[in-house]
Amino acid sequence: MTAHPKTCPTTGELHFFGYGSGTPPYLTYHRADAAGQLVVSRPIDVPAATMMHDFHLTARHVVFMDLPMVHDRGRPGMPYAWDPEYGARLGVLRRDDPHGEVRWLEIDPCYVFHALNAHDDGDQRIVLHVSRYAALDGRTPSFLWRWTIDLAAGTVAEEQLDDRFGEFPRMDDRLTGQPARFGHVTAGEAPGTGPIPGALLRYDLRTGAVARHDVGPGRTPGEAAFAPADDRPGGPGWLITYVYDATTDTSDLVILDAEDITAGPVAAVHLPHRVPYGFHGNWLPDPAG
Ligand SMILES: [Fe+2]
Repeated sequence: MTAHPKTCPTTGELHFFGYGSGTPPYLTYHRADAAGQLVVSRPIDVPAATMMHDFHLTARHVVFMDLPMVHDRGRPGMPYAWDPEYGARLGVLRRDDPHGEVRWLEIDPCYVFHALNAHDDGDQRIVLHVSRYAALDGRTPSFLWRWTIDLAAGTVAEEQLDDRFGEFPRMDDRLTGQPARFGHVTAGEAPGTGPIPGALLRYDLRTGAVARHDVGPGRTPGEAAFAPADDRPGGPGWLITYVYDATTDTSDLVILDAEDITAGPVAAVHLPHRVPYGFHGNWLPDPAG
């Protein structure tokens, strides 16, 4: 069961997948309807068992990433090996034909743990934003990339958007599968260029503008969850993250105005101890309203 299920804001459906390493199917796509009933579970053929951490949802498509982190049972420690010879491909499935053909499109070998978002662009194009590793070797950082699938041509255009490394891309989840304008990542400078300041970046994917908040020397930010300020998807809100300070060995819960992150935190909750690094966090509104 993937750690990254996605809720369609239009239908309320939950889309998710499972991947395995024993016997096929190595990949199974699942869908639950808005009432929580499992309505689709279908195996998908892939050449081998690979590590598959995230996927993509648009209004009309589901896109899987079959990437060259291949299961290797004999390997000590983590039983997956980086094997670019395996190749890399994106699998496109139509949401209105969930048992139909998955169309596979080749891309350059890479690894992606986390997708920012994806959306349909007209009838024949799908745009995906990802934190992309050129290799998953423990040394190579990830950068924000845009993939544009052209279904008519059967091609994928691949474009790096920034040379600052970034992970944990997040956005206003109410725009999952929609053309969201803004995305946020936890970032730093590329290794080898000097100190690595922890920062949060906010990308305007329409204009290319990037806003930055440095958390300060010796401090490291985590993933920033987006908390909406009102009922306008893509509108105002706050970014919420833990920032760890190595000099005091404590963490702050830091809150930024998403539309003005360069102004610095609007609030910080100083915690008397360190919060160990997690990977992800979510903002959940008060169910009582
Ligand atoms: Fe993750």
